[in-house]
Amino acid sequence: EAELQGSAEADRKRRAAAVIEEVERSLSTPTALLRSIADAMLKMLISYVDNLPTGDEHGLYYALDLGGTNFRVLRVQLGGREKRVVKQQYEEVSIPPHLMVGSSMELFDFIAAALAKFVDTEGEDFHLPEGRQRELGFTFSFPVNQTSISSGTLIKWTKGFSVNGTVGADVVSELSKAMERQGLDMKVTALVNDTVGTLAGGRYMDNDVVAAVILGTGTNAAYVEHANAIPKWTGLLPKSGNMVINTEWGSFKSDKLPLSEYDKAMDFESLNPGEQIYEKMISGMYLGEIVRRILLKLAHDASLFGDVVPSKLEQPFVLRTPDMSAMHHDSSHDLKILGAKLKDIVGVADTSLEVRYITRHICDLVAERGARLAAAGIYSILKKIGRDKVPSNGSKMPRTVIALDGGLYEHYKKFSSCVETTLTDLLGEEASSSVVAKLANDGSGIGAALLAASHSQYADVD
Ligand code: BG6
Ligand code: GLC
Repeated sequence: EAELQGSAEADRKRRAAAVIEEVERSLSTPTALLRSIADAMLKMLISYVDNLPTGDEHGLYYALDLGGTNFRVLRVQLGGREKRVVKQQYEEVSIPPHLMVGSSMELFDFIAAALAKFVDTEGEDFHLPEGRQRELGFTFSFPVNQTSISSGTLIKWTKGFSVNGTVGADVVSELSKAMERQGLDMKVTALVNDTVGTLAGGRYMDNDVVAAVILGTGTNAAYVEHANAIPKWTGLLPKSGNMVINTEWGSFKSDKLPLSEYDKAMDFESLNPGEQIYEKMISGMYLGEIVRRILLKLAHDASLFGDVVPSKLEQPFVLRTPDMSAMHHDSSHDLKILGAKLKDIVGVADTSLEVRYITRHICDLVAERGARLAAAGIYSILKKIGRDKVPSNGSKMPRTVIALDGGLYEHYKKFSSCVETTLTDLLGEEASSSVVAKLANDGSGIGAALLAASHSQYADVD
């Protein structure tokens, strides 16, 4: 009997090894592949933010940030070049899940109500000159067809949102109508994507910031491009000669992307099948779910969690990326934290050390693929703006700063360090010594307020 058991065990191990090998193969991202992905990237959207903050902005401005994990309202008193940010306050509100898939009016009423409540708490440290209307920068982190700095229509919802009646509508006018219904007198003077807000905020803090990348619930990047290099731009050249490009790289799709059966199945069952493929391989909303799908396959094909497949593991999105991160970072000799997580999430107590190692390995494979693909994206932007190599005339490459934000980058250390090492690898040692990745946490709020200030209806008066 012992012999029989031994051979059953050997057979189980063989099946597990076969699944893992296939997962390793399908998730692999050799550097040469990353280079060709970088070359295939960069679809462009024009964002109408020709002027980045100068530092001279002053006055009281509000900002509203919708589309990340939390919805945020912010007010800031800007003090011009000398004093900069005199005072700022913010509040974070989570969006009730039913509003993420409800009607447009309900969603905008909810955010306008939260904003109105926040405005009511404005204290004496904030000053609005007599007779002026309060102004707001609206960070709206979804793909928008921008029609001016303060208007734009929603192209499609992404991430966990699928609200009825907003696609095709001007989101500033949706928000303005909701503010009116709340009796709130406020004008939206800037509509920006979170990447554009982060870029503006990043540039305000550090003049060498050339691009902003979000690695959070979703992923996207914006960068500064010389306007005459943009084929879609048919208007006059902006004064600065520069233009901010929101790449919406999350929607990037290519045969080159290492798409596994797990990605395909997840995409098929998602709110937006066939869309945001690059985002679904990289961002925080999806990484844990990919791990869950692989573990489920191992449970089915190689009895990873015993003879019965744990029913909890069948539930989409039970394994969240923060849990995956906690499991991945467990370096204790018996992987205790990981074991506790598996008990919690999968409902299986007393997993063997081998099962824990396999689980950690899967987390590693999925995180590494995401981080390497994100690095390929950053590399493609650096290439586009000519900051991927030391200039051929022998001069030094200028200091080049990428502002990064998002929960995934901020909290998942193994992920963020893999982004950085892969970028170094792609750039080579010399060029990478001039490139700095900088966490710009919550910069998008300040960025939106700054752009609201520079596009204020009173800008010419001041
Ligand atoms: C926040 C920014 O810090 O990060 C938001 O203020 C952005 O504008 C968000 O959308 C992205 O991260 P996450 O993890 O909340 O999706
Ligand atoms: C999604 C959105 C994009 C946003 C990104 C990060 O990809 O479509 O607009 O910038 O998430 O929040």
